[in-house]
Amino acid sequence: MTSNQPARFPDGFVWGTATASYQIEGAVDEDGRAPSIWDTFSHTPGRVRNGDTGDVACDHYHRYAEDVALLAELGCTHYRFSFAWPRLQPAGSGALNDKGVDFYDRLIDRLLDAGVQPWVTLYHWDLPQVLEDRGGWPERDTAHRFADYAVRVHERFADRVRFWTTLNEPYCAAFVGYAEGRHAPGRTEPEAALRAAHHLMLGHGLAIRAMREQRTEGSYGVTLNLYPVDAATDHPADLDAARRVDAVQNRIFLDPILRGRYPTDLLDDVAAVTDASYIADGDEATIAAPLDLLGVNYYTRHVVRAGTAPRDTPTAFVGSGDVEKVSRGLPTTNVGWEIDPQGLRDVLLRLHQEYDPIPLYVTENGMACDDRPGPDGTVADPARVSYLDSHFRVASELIEQGVDLRGYFVWTLTDNFEWGWGYSQRFGLVYLDYATQRRIPKDSARYFARVAKANALP
Ligand code: FCB
Repeated sequence: MTSNQPARFPDGFVWGTATASYQIEGAVDEDGRAPSIWDTFSHTPGRVRNGDTGDVACDHYHRYAEDVALLAELGCTHYRFSFAWPRLQPAGSGALNDKGVDFYDRLIDRLLDAGVQPWVTLYHWDLPQVLEDRGGWPERDTAHRFADYAVRVHERFADRVRFWTTLNEPYCAAFVGYAEGRHAPGRTEPEAALRAAHHLMLGHGLAIRAMREQRTEGSYGVTLNLYPVDAATDHPADLDAARRVDAVQNRIFLDPILRGRYPTDLLDDVAAVTDASYIADGDEATIAAPLDLLGVNYYTRHVVRAGTAPRDTPTAFVGSGDVEKVSRGLPTTNVGWEIDPQGLRDVLLRLHQEYDPIPLYVTENGMACDDRPGPDGTVADPARVSYLDSHFRVASELIEQGVDLRGYFVWTLTDNFEWGWGYSQRFGLVYLDYATQRRIPKDSARYFARVAKANALP
């Protein structure tokens, strides 16, 4: 298929946008919500650009009805959002908070009334601070706390929610949060990051098994952020750098979750910093609980080469230690990520070719632009329109080639709190004027609505 032919998506293809609780909700101390690690982190001077916090964010907690109306206007068949653990279970254990439950009840009912199916993420990085105070994800007990939270929430909402994913991007939760320290909780402890990755996956497996015992007709899965990792040259040292980054970025999650075993090369790579005694007998089997779907977040490709620094980091964390990221000089988004739609092809084809068949969904893809309303009040974002169009075309071609891709969520509905970048980065299809909380659909919102409603590319 060439890029100027119209491309239809299969009937029932899922079109949506994705959000996360801390990035949009605000109302951080209302109705019994307790602090999360992101409240603590964003309120720590120097952690988030401009000192921004999620205290108000998009005020979605109060404006959810307006946001649901936008989703319907956009032609979304589904809406991917996350439950705030500290809102639903403020103590990190025990009974749910009724007022937190009420909020998500109202949101879900509103979505269903608008003809938009809810797609839940149970954990998009807002760990109750009380659990971090007890050691956080590096502690095994946090996996059990997560499974307990999942089961209680699932029991309450599974009558109306069919799609359940446990974690969003455990890579970032573990390595950006506990090794790089750019995300909450801001720790820089490589061994703790590896333990965190393991306990996130353990929590995932325990939660999947427990939710399935409660109900069998749902669809259960997890979302990973995956990247093709290429070596800058075919020099053996660069090839090995690419192998190490691929191991810690992709296969550390894919292999235990989909195959029930850690990659042996990864365990060798990290042997210098951990004895991996946190991997108990039976854990890999628990982590490999059968899934109905895999969510893939795709943003860019990594090209790497061997670095010159001593090899003192546990693995090849991109941009640190003994590995350097290489820029190819491609156009980038406003956050500096190279625009590479073929990377989406490489990621999905790899899953299709190397792993057992599993329904795939793109659960995030999108770009940050320096958007501003023009003199007439509208927001023209041609770069985002062409970014989305090029990635959607790759998706459509992959489906033609037999890849079992069933849906596509754009990151994100409205501009929102972009973690360490605060409000300085705009990823939305809808512009948010933070001073007034006014929502203004961008040109990309109209483009997206056309695609979603026609289930085809123009
Ligand atoms: C992903 C996150 C999401 C958003 C996008 C831009 O890593 O899952 O919350 O920040 O990046």
